[in-house]
Amino acid sequence: MNLKTLKDLDVKNKRVLVRVDFNVPLEDGKVVDDTRITEALPTINYLREQEAKVILMSHLGRPEGKVVEELRLEPVGHRLAELIDDHVLTLTDCVGEEVQRAVEGMEEGDVVLLENLRFYAAEEENKKEFAHQLAELADVYINDAFGAAHRAHASTEGVAHLIPAAAGLLLEKEIKTLSEVMSDPAKPFVAVIGGAKISTKMGVINKLLEKTDNLLLGGGLANTIVKAAGVEVGKSLVEEEMLAEAKQLSEKKDSKLKIPVDVVVAQEANNTARTRISNINDIKPEEAIFDIGAETIKEYTEIIKKAKTVIWNGPMGMFEQSNFANGTNSVAKAVAEGDNKSVIGGGETLEAVSKLALTDRVSFVSTGGGAMLEFMEKGDLPALEPLKKQDK
Ligand code: 3PG
Repeated sequence: MNLKTLKDLDVKNKRVLVRVDFNVPLEDGKVVDDTRITEALPTINYLREQEAKVILMSHLGRPEGKVVEELRLEPVGHRLAELIDDHVLTLTDCVGEEVQRAVEGMEEGDVVLLENLRFYAAEEENKKEFAHQLAELADVYINDAFGAAHRAHASTEGVAHLIPAAAGLLLEKEIKTLSEVMSDPAKPFVAVIGGAKISTKMGVINKLLEKTDNLLLGGGLANTIVKAAGVEVGKSLVEEEMLAEAKQLSEKKDSKLKIPVDVVVAQEANNTARTRISNINDIKPEEAIFDIGAETIKEYTEIIKKAKTVIWNGPMGMFEQSNFANGTNSVAKAVAEGDNKSVIGGGETLEAVSKLALTDRVSFVSTGGGAMLEFMEKGDLPALEPLKKQDK
């Protein structure tokens, strides 16, 4: 994909509006995982070297058009200031007079962080007027928010039509890496997809079935396929409205698609619940599936270890509880320890890998969850449209 990139634009001494994805987890008013902030630093540092005035903007959570005190970006600004070891002016609004005045007062190399864009409903509605208000703050627009590039919002899409626009260094790197993996993977190519819902992953599952040598499924989404195949899953999480589509998947003959042959079941979803490993055909009505079982772990990890390219998105079970973490942890170790190019994405997957201190052993950690899945499925994202080079 031929995107206009940061270095194609003259940013020297310019006011540069940068959409970042600083939608990071907070606990007690502190950032608990700053990966998305550190990944945006190359763009921020480059712009400051060019003596640009750097105006950062992001969403945080889903405040749905209202001011939600817990979703202010102040803690994020604080963490960013620590990381760049310099002052960051975090504003309490993202448009309006206060913001205009703050931008007018900026010196070359200064960094301003606007308030949460989603405090305005116009952001998600991609309202023209709101996009104009953002565009008026700057000479140039840079989109570095890969994690939000599957959203056509005012700050990710609308504004890019109004002033000269290009992709930031992180967005460029994500698109390049994921494009290479999907178009020219070293074989065997294995994908592991987990997580709760099959409805959000059906598209990418079908795409990966075309591309991979093996597709390994786990987590709640596999329950829906198991049930669609006519197997009793007791009280397990199932998306009833997805059963018909899931049935088509379960019927794929000589499939490279793997679903669990055994699972960890319990009657309660907590750390102290009594568990047992059950054959997939032997689940009792009062039980629910919370992890993949020992035989499935063996089968999956053997396939992963032989892979030359691995993509992983979504846990194999309720890994937050230690008694249901074995499947996810075993997959994490197999992915990280294999002689492969590994690409992981999605908040829970990153958390699982990070808990085991294996992040450094993964080849590429995507900052996107939904964006990574949608890009793998469609090879494109709504926010990329206005950043494409027209002449090639
Ligand atoms: C994410 O965390 O996946 C992105 O920041 C997008 O957030 P959203 O799903 O609320 O649009």
